[in-house]
Amino acid sequence: MSQTLLQAELFAPAGHDPLGEAYARAHLPEERRASGITLTPQWLVQRMLDLAATRDGFDTVVDCGAGSGRFAIAAALRFPHARVIAVEAHPEMAALLRRRLRDEALSHRVELLEADYRQAGLPARGRTLFVGNPPYVRHHDLEPQWKEWYRRTMAAHGIVASQLAGLHAQFMLRTVELMRDGDAMLFVTAAEWLDNGYGQAVRDLLGGAGDVALRSLWLAAPDESVFPDALVSSVVVEAQRGGGDAAVQTGMIAGRALHPVRRLDRASLRAAQRWTPLCREQPIAISGGAELGELFRITRGQVTGLNSAWVVKPEDAMPATLTVPAITRAREIIDDLAATREGVARLARVVDLPSDLDALASPEREAALRFVDRARALGADRSYIARHRTPWYRVGMREPPAAFVSYMGRRPPVFRANPQRVSFLNIAHGLYPRAPMAEVVLSRILQHLNTTTDLYSGRVYGGGLAKFEPSDIARLRVPRELLESVA
Ligand SMILES: C[S@@+](CC[C@H](N)C(=O)[O-])C[C@H]1O[C@@H](n2cnc3c(N)ncnc32)[C@H](O)[C@@H]1O
Repeated sequence: MSQTLLQAELFAPAGHDPLGEAYARAHLPEERRASGITLTPQWLVQRMLDLAATRDGFDTVVDCGAGSGRFAIAAALRFPHARVIAVEAHPEMAALLRRRLRDEALSHRVELLEADYRQAGLPARGRTLFVGNPPYVRHHDLEPQWKEWYRRTMAAHGIVASQLAGLHAQFMLRTVELMRDGDAMLFVTAAEWLDNGYGQAVRDLLGGAGDVALRSLWLAAPDESVFPDALVSSVVVEAQRGGGDAAVQTGMIAGRALHPVRRLDRASLRAAQRWTPLCREQPIAISGGAELGELFRITRGQVTGLNSAWVVKPEDAMPATLTVPAITRAREIIDDLAATREGVARLARVVDLPSDLDALASPEREAALRFVDRARALGADRSYIARHRTPWYRVGMREPPAAFVSYMGRRPPVFRANPQRVSFLNIAHGLYPRAPMAEVVLSRILQHLNTTTDLYSGRVYGGGLAKFEPSDIARLRVPRELLESVA
C-alpha cells in the first residue's frame, strides 16, 4: 500500500472510499484507461440502488467490474439479505477491494471473485441484480479473441455485430448471457452506443427482440458531469429478463437525480434509429418536413496538414492571387465574418497554389517558390496529409458553400450564410444546396436551424461538449413551409 493511499484512508470521512479516491488521484486517467478504471461517484451509486430497490427483491447482487467496490459495498449495506459477489480482474483493484472489505468488516458479506467477468463462473445465485459501471475500453485495446467471441455470441442472438464495440458492450452481452428469468441488469456506461454504429447491436440486443429487454434508460444532461475525469456523456441502462412487453421508461439525469421524461412502447423503441432523443425533454423530432441532407450536400472543410504553414495573416506578404480568404476558426462563424466585406478583411487567408508553379507569371512564381521553401522548412511536406497529396503543396481549397455550420462546442451548432463567398477549413462544415435556392429561403432555413437545434441533435461528450458529424447535420429537419419561395 503506498504512502498516499494510507494517508488518504487516515483522513477521510467515514462511509466514503478513500482508497479508491487515492488510487484515482495517484494514477492519471491515461494510466487507468487500458483497464477502464473510472470510479462511480457515490451519489450515482445510491441513485441506481434506489432504482433497484423499487423492483422486486433480489437474492444476489453481482458487481460487474467492481473496482474499489462502490456498488458491492453499498449493495451489501442496502440489501442486508442479499448475497453480494464482486467480480474484478485487475489485481491492484482486487487487493484494494479486499483491504476495504476487511477494514469495513464486510468480508463475510461480499465475495470477491478475482477474474475476467467475461468468463468468470458465478455460483448458484437465485434472482440476481447485475449492477455496476462496466469498464470503458475502446476496441483498439481489446484482444482479437474477445472481439471474435463478441461477434459469435451476438450472431447466436441473430445480431450482426461490429468489431468496433468496446469492453462495456462486451460486458452488456456477457450479462445478457448470464441473465435468467427475473434477473436484472443496471449499468452506468458511456452513452455513445445509444446512437452510433457499433451500438446498433446492443440496441438490437436490448430492444426487445430477445428475452432480455430494456426497462429504463436515463441520459445524463449535457451539464451533468458524472465522471469529471472522463470526457464522455453517460447513461444509466436498466434491462430485465422476462416481463414481456412492458413499457420502457426514459428520462434524464440532472441535479444528481433521475427525472422521468416519457414512457414508450416497444414498437417505438424498435423504430427509433437513435436512443438519445428518446430520453430528452424536448419533443422527439419534428415529424414531416424535409431532412437537411435532402436540401444540401454537407461537406467537411479542407484539411491543410499544417495550418501554421498554410494559414497566413492578411498582413503577410503573399500575393492575393495565391491565397483564398477562409473561415479558419469557429469563432469567425459565430461572429458572422462571412456576412460583410469588412468581416472578410479580418479573416486569415489560406495559401492555395496551383499544381504547376512554372505556369505562374512573375512575381507570383517567385512568391510561390519562396512559400514552398518556407513551408518545407516548417516540415509541412512531411505531414501525413501532405504526403498523401500530389503535389504536396497544393491544398485544393473547397468552393465557397452557401452556408457554414460550426460542429464542435459547448453550445448548439451555429449556422451562418456565406454571401461573401469565402472558403473554409475543417473547423466547420459547408452547406451546398442541391438545387438553386433563393436567398430568402436559405436565410429562413438558417434562422430555423439556429433556433431549434440543441446539443442533443449531435453527439454529446462530458461537460456539454457536442460534436456534429455531417450525417448528424444532414438528419436535422426543416418544416416544408419554410421552403416555399415568396412570389
Ligand atoms: C469503470 S470501473 C468501475 C469500478 C467500480 N465498479 C465503480 O463503479 O466505481 C471498471 C472496473 O472493471 C475492471 N475490469 C476491467 N476489465 C475487466 C474484466 N475483463 N473483468 C472484470 N473486471 C474488469 C477494472 O479494473 C475496473 O476496476
